[in-house]
Amino acid sequence: MEPILWEWINAVARWLHVITAIAWIGSSFYFIHLDASLRRRTGAPAGTAGDAWQIHGGGFYHMTKYMVAPPQLPEDLTWFKWESYATWISGFFLMCVLYYRGADLFLIDQDVMALAPWQAIAASVGALALGWVAYDRMCKSPLGRNDAALAAAGFVLLVATAWAMTRVFSGRGAMLQMGALMATMMAANVFLLIIPNQRKTVAAMLRGETPDPALGRQAKQRSLHNNYLTLPVVFLMIANHYPLVTSTRFNWVMVALVLVVGASIRHFFNSQHAGKGSPWWTWGVAAAGMLAAAWLSSFGPALPAGGTAAALPTRVSFTQVEEIVLSRCSMCHAAEPVWEGIATPPRGVVLDGEAAIRRHATEIRLQAGLSRAMPPANITQITPDERAILAAWSGDTTR
Ligand code: HEC
Repeated sequence: MEPILWEWINAVARWLHVITAIAWIGSSFYFIHLDASLRRRTGAPAGTAGDAWQIHGGGFYHMTKYMVAPPQLPEDLTWFKWESYATWISGFFLMCVLYYRGADLFLIDQDVMALAPWQAIAASVGALALGWVAYDRMCKSPLGRNDAALAAAGFVLLVATAWAMTRVFSGRGAMLQMGALMATMMAANVFLLIIPNQRKTVAAMLRGETPDPALGRQAKQRSLHNNYLTLPVVFLMIANHYPLVTSTRFNWVMVALVLVVGASIRHFFNSQHAGKGSPWWTWGVAAAGMLAAAWLSSFGPALPAGGTAAALPTRVSFTQVEEIVLSRCSMCHAAEPVWEGIATPPRGVVLDGEAAIRRHATEIRLQAGLSRAMPPANITQITPDERAILAAWSGDTTR
C-alpha cells in the first residue's frame, strides 16, 4: 500500500506544481508584456508612465500605469503573490517527496561525494538559502545600480554554483538543485522584496505621504530578473527526464548555455512587445547555444574522481552487454525488484533477458552508456569500461 500512496502523493504534488507554475509564469509574462507595451500619449494624466489598449475574450481593456502610485488608493486592489508562493511551496514539497525522501538514489552519487542522506539534504537546503543571500546582497551592493554589471555578476555566481553542485550531488540532483535555487531566488524576490516594497508604498499613501519611488524601482529590477530566469528554470525542472543533459561531463556548462539561450529568447519578446523591433539574431544565439549543449553532451559521462577515460571498444558482443545489464540493472529492473523500497519495475522498464534488453537498447545506451544517469547514484558500481561497452553497443547487431 505504501508505494501506491507515495506514487499518488508524487502525482498530485506534481500536478499542483505545474498548475501553480503556469499561473505564476502566465501572470508574470502578462505583466512584462503589459509593461513593455505601454505607450505615452499626449494628454495622459500626470504621474502616469503610459497606457495600453488590449482586446481579449470579447472585450476591450484600457490599462494605465502610474509611475509611483495613483493620487488616490483604489478600494479594490488586486495583489499578485499567491501564484508565486504556491509554486515555491508545491515545488519544495515535491523536492522533499522525490529528492530528499529518495536522496540515496536521486541526490547522492557516491563517486562524486560520499554523503549520508541527511548530509546531502542539509547541503541542498543550505545551498538554497545561501544562494538567495548571496544574490540579494549583490543586488543591494553598489553593483545593483548597474543592471548590466549585476547581470554579469549574477551569471558568474550561478555558473560557479552549478559547477560546485555537480561536485557535491549526482548530475540529476545538481541540475534540479540549480533549478530550485533559481526558483527560490525568484519566489524570494516576490516574498521578501517586491510585496514588502508594495506594502510600504501603500502604507505611505494611507498616511497621506508620497511613497519613495526607489521602492518601485527596486521591485522592478527584481521583477526583471525573474523574467530572465523563467525560461532557464523551466528547462532545469524538466531536465531530469534527459540523461544527456543531467548526467554527462559538462552538465554545468549546459546551465550557462541555458541561461544565455533563455535570456536571449526573452530579449526577443521583450523587445518586440516594447515596439523596439524584432531582434531575430537572438534566435541564432538560441540555436547555437542548444547545438553547443548537444555537442557537449556527446563527451559522455563524467569520470569518477581519479578515473581515466575508457577507450570505446570497437567490437562488442551481446554476451558482454547482457552480463553488465543483468549484474548492474536487473535487481531493480525486474518484474519483482529485489531492491528495497522499489516495489514495481521503475518506469515499467524490465531488463531480465535478451529480448527485453534488445528492446530497450537505445534507452540503455542513453541512461548508462552515454550518460551516468543509471544506475541511480551508481549504486551498483558500474565501471567506466562497462559504460563504454554499453555506449559502443548498437542494439540491432545480431552478435
Ligand atoms: C537501484 C535501482 C536501480 C538500478 C540498479 C538501475 N535502475 Fe534504472 N531506474 C531506477 C529508477 C528508480 C528509475 C525511475 C527514475 C525516475 O523516476 O525518474 C529508473 C529508470 C530507468 C529507465 C527509464 C528512464 C525513463 O525516464 O523512462 C531506464 C531505461 C533505466 N532505468 C535503465 C537502467 C539501466 C540500463 C540500468 C543498469 C545499468 C539501471 N537502470 C539500473 C532504478 C534503478
